[in-house]
Amino acid sequence: MRFDGQVVFLSGAAHGIGAATARRLHQEGASVVIGDRDLVAAEQLAGELGERASAVECEVTDRESVDTAVAATEERYGRLDQLVTVAGGSCAMPIFDEQTDELWSDLIELNLTGTMRCIRAALPLLQRSAHPAVVLVSSVNGLTAFGEEAYGAAKAGLSNLVRNLAVRYGPDGVRFNVVAPGTVRTRNWDHQPGQLDRLARFSPLGRVGEPEDLAAAIAFLASTDAAWITGITMPVDGGALAGPLQVSQQG
Ligand SMILES: NC(=O)c1ccc[n+]([C@@H]2O[C@H](COP(=O)([O-])OP(=O)(O)OC[C@H]3O[C@@H](n4cnc5c(N)ncnc54)[C@H](O)[C@@H]3O)[C@@H](O)[C@H]2O)c1
Repeated sequence: MRFDGQVVFLSGAAHGIGAATARRLHQEGASVVIGDRDLVAAEQLAGELGERASAVECEVTDRESVDTAVAATEERYGRLDQLVTVAGGSCAMPIFDEQTDELWSDLIELNLTGTMRCIRAALPLLQRSAHPAVVLVSSVNGLTAFGEEAYGAAKAGLSNLVRNLAVRYGPDGVRFNVVAPGTVRTRNWDHQPGQLDRLARFSPLGRVGEPEDLAAAIAFLASTDAAWITGITMPVDGGALAGPLQVSQQG
């Protein structure tokens, strides 16, 4: 019950990694506010969790929507202790020199600027908490070259953002960290049959991640178990970044 009495706001928590994280934090005693642009699914999850869970519409590409969602959290609970930003994603992308300005801007907007908006809105509340922590969800694409340049650049930006914010707000006790998932089994892979089995070979551990693998890592960084950890990016990737591909292929 590491989150007993704590209030957590999560962006992008109606599905996938965010939903698993909301479940995990709720299970550990938190009151969770499920912020998502898919309000129907967010409400469904909140209903499933029951007491100590609520849903709020939150479109991270829209400042007003984010500010309103965080204000609704304060209105309901009078406080905010931890922020988890999961909203993000990529899309089918042409080769780099065919990528348009619009595609580039959209991916930076969703993955980097949208995350910044959540942090900016939450900070005044977090600064009043006894155990404030922020955990951002990035990607291994932000740590090395897996293509999808716009997505990778946006996710890489999150690592630098948390370093700066860790330094700036450390004296106030606010911690900022990033988890960088490898391939995780969510609905995003549904349209590519067989792809998860192929990608499992990138992991020395021989499998792709489950949303619960990420939820466990996010819960750790958000909890006081990580009280002396700030400004880091932690890969949660089954070891995919640990060594070259052929190592895991030979096994
Ligand atoms: N699944 C993977 O293999 C994988 C790998 C690396 C990183 N990630 C990252 O993990 C995060 C979650 O991915 P997932 O696979 O769980 O995806 P998902 O589609 O299952 O969940 C994403 C959630 O974010 C919400 N969302 C999307 N855009 C939003 C917006 N503009 N405003 C508010 N909410 C929005 C969606 O409605 C959904 O509930 C993303 O940031 C993604 O980039 C995923």
